[in-house]
Amino acid sequence: MRVIKTVKEMEGVAKALRRSGKSVGFVPTMGYLHEGHLSLVKAARRENDTVVMSIFVNPIQFAPGEDLKKYPRDEKRDMELAEKEGVDILFIPSVKEIYPRKNLTFVEVKEITEYLCGGKRPGHFRGVTTVVAKLFNIVMPDRAYFGKKDFQQFKVIKKMVEDLNTDVEIVGCPIVRERDGLALSSRNIYLSEEERRSALSLYKSLILAKRTIESGEKSVENIKNRIRDFIFSFPHVKKIDYIEIVDQNSFEVVEYVKEGDLIALAVFIGNARLIDNWVVGEEL
Ligand code: PAF
Repeated sequence: MRVIKTVKEMEGVAKALRRSGKSVGFVPTMGYLHEGHLSLVKAARRENDTVVMSIFVNPIQFAPGEDLKKYPRDEKRDMELAEKEGVDILFIPSVKEIYPRKNLTFVEVKEITEYLCGGKRPGHFRGVTTVVAKLFNIVMPDRAYFGKKDFQQFKVIKKMVEDLNTDVEIVGCPIVRERDGLALSSRNIYLSEEERRSALSLYKSLILAKRTIESGEKSVENIKNRIRDFIFSFPHVKKIDYIEIVDQNSFEVVEYVKEGDLIALAVFIGNARLIDNWVVGEEL
């Protein structure tokens, strides 16, 4: 596995790969890798000649007061995991490499970023789309892989490449869960053992929602109330950031749930802000 730390070197390698006609699958990450990230590498490995992964904790997608400073990092372990999984090129730029001077240009997807995480974390998606657009320009991949745990992020990036005519296929991959259902997240490291048990309330509340819908309930208000009461029955639930049932393309709230709608949750368990979701009718 080749480790690249500068934009210049990465651009040179990307150009050579393009010229050679080899397809490039790209997995952008913020590191602290887990099986969720590795499932993206597996998908990229299956579908491309070369797999590039980036590790970059992007400061401009964190608001002041969020967890940028304490975001978990372990470069040595990440390198071992990436290599073991078959990553060919690991791009680990510094903040100075990606933002050498004051950044005056931003990529912003409107409307669908006003809901859910976009509504609760103003500026977050602008930071994500800006860095992803920059990484796409540097790496020049054929395909890029994103986990559907960040369902809104996946849709926002799909819309960005559509609107900007970026020649990258965006591939969404299923949520990877622990055996007991907890969705994998680098932020799970913030949880104590007891808080982890409460973190399971997110997944379990989605199961409850699924059963409620299967039993014939269609009212979004009633389903949301059941989810809320269920989550609050667990200790260590500091705050429910949102429970929403929305159209999976527009992200606008719906009144009556139907197949294909998205049930999305963001909950603070202790100090960790955790998200999870389920597309109604899909496997859970
Ligand atoms: O999902 C992430 O890890 C990040 O938001 C991404 C896509 C790597 C951009 O910084």
